[in-house]
Amino acid sequence: MAPAAQPTSTTYSIAAIPADGIGPEVIDAGIEVLTALADMLKSFKLEFTHYDWSSETYKKTGKYIPSGGLEQLRKHDAIFFGAVGAPDVPDHISLWGLRLAICQPFQQYANVRPTRVLPGVQSPLRNCRPGDLDWVIIRENSEGEYAGQGGRSHRGCAWETATEVAIFTRHCITRIMRFAFETARKRPRKLLTVVTKSNAQRNGMVLWDEVAAEVATEFPDVAMDKMLVDAMTVRMVQKPESLDTIVATNLVSRGNGQTGTLRDDTDAHQHQHADILSDLAAALAGSIGIAPTSNLDPTRQNPSMFEPIHGSAFDITGKGVANPVATFWTAAEMLAWLGEEEASTLLMESVGSICARRIVTPDLGGSATTKEVTAAIVNDLRGSLGKVASV
Ligand SMILES: NC(=O)c1ccc[n+]([C@@H]2O[C@H](COP(=O)([O-])OP(=O)(O)OC[C@H]3O[C@@H](n4cnc5c(N)ncnc54)[C@H](O)[C@@H]3O)[C@@H](O)[C@H]2O)c1
Repeated sequence: MAPAAQPTSTTYSIAAIPADGIGPEVIDAGIEVLTALADMLKSFKLEFTHYDWSSETYKKTGKYIPSGGLEQLRKHDAIFFGAVGAPDVPDHISLWGLRLAICQPFQQYANVRPTRVLPGVQSPLRNCRPGDLDWVIIRENSEGEYAGQGGRSHRGCAWETATEVAIFTRHCITRIMRFAFETARKRPRKLLTVVTKSNAQRNGMVLWDEVAAEVATEFPDVAMDKMLVDAMTVRMVQKPESLDTIVATNLVSRGNGQTGTLRDDTDAHQHQHADILSDLAAALAGSIGIAPTSNLDPTRQNPSMFEPIHGSAFDITGKGVANPVATFWTAAEMLAWLGEEEASTLLMESVGSICARRIVTPDLGGSATTKEVTAAIVNDLRGSLGKVASV
């Protein structure tokens, strides 16, 4: 008798770019957990292709991404990214040479950052009860203040001039607003807060507000409110439970941007200035070591990129104490984006379980190493999948 047909499992091709600092440590941990999960579930497979694009590569070859690199990358279903940045390469060169050089051509216009306080993790907010802080921050990732428009002239003269031009187009605002409303609609509270600085920036950000109001009419089931970014920081700290989904322009949510014309220290400087809402959110949720990011091309014409929000963390590189939770959460976001919702949920349940049991790295007040946290997650998955199988 012919053997019964096995259900075919999907194979996803993932580009792994660990890059610099603790990037390789956390991406190794993420691949170990993802591979174990796929092996246990057997309903899908993951094939990782490793790219050694990093600051080391840049120092040897003068390029982060080799010729033809983006075409290779385009063939994958998703990109699993570590962190880029090295002490001996200026930050604007590393960031714009690798990470942003992928975001822009791949039209990853929606930057999505879920934030919540995981079980067992203490928020620095004294009165923050479980469930109070549960947000999704969506950042416009393709234009705004980081469109790279502007320049400097008459360098060194008394009349030296520098301009930054923020770009806001109806097209890009509309697409990010629709994405944000759709995200809010899928969440129980159905509330979207639109953040700008439209009192001071009276053209681009007023257009942003107007388009938000127009798009809101397509989503009568989603409540919308508006905040100025300065007041927003206060609301995040004092009334975290009053927020749910948040959409903001590139600058007000975090520095990022496009390959611009400026190529000097001013770029790096602006970037530091822009780390406002989402870094605050990560800190309020307990540590930057747990916060994930997705850079999505919602049209799915290009692969989307998933990364922990943190950087290369020179101070802890090689010490084996990098918190891998941000990368696990990022991996769960990647699985959900690929359509593997069950695997994504299982992974986040295990992350919650080991945090609740306080198997955590020093940034969360624990003493576990990266490897111990990783092994604990794999064991927890094994336990919970064993339970599922025996039901
Ligand atoms: N997306 C990215 O690739 C990205 C993001 C931010 C910074 N960077 C780069 O990283 C380098 C260092 O930047 P930085 O110091 O401003 O930010 P960082 O995120 O690397 O580190 C800030 C602080 O948080 C700690 N930290 C970060 N991740 C952690 C983790 N997983 N576990 C425990 N602690 C963690 C670090 O030890 C450090 O004290 C720079 O070159 C910067 O340009 C890259």
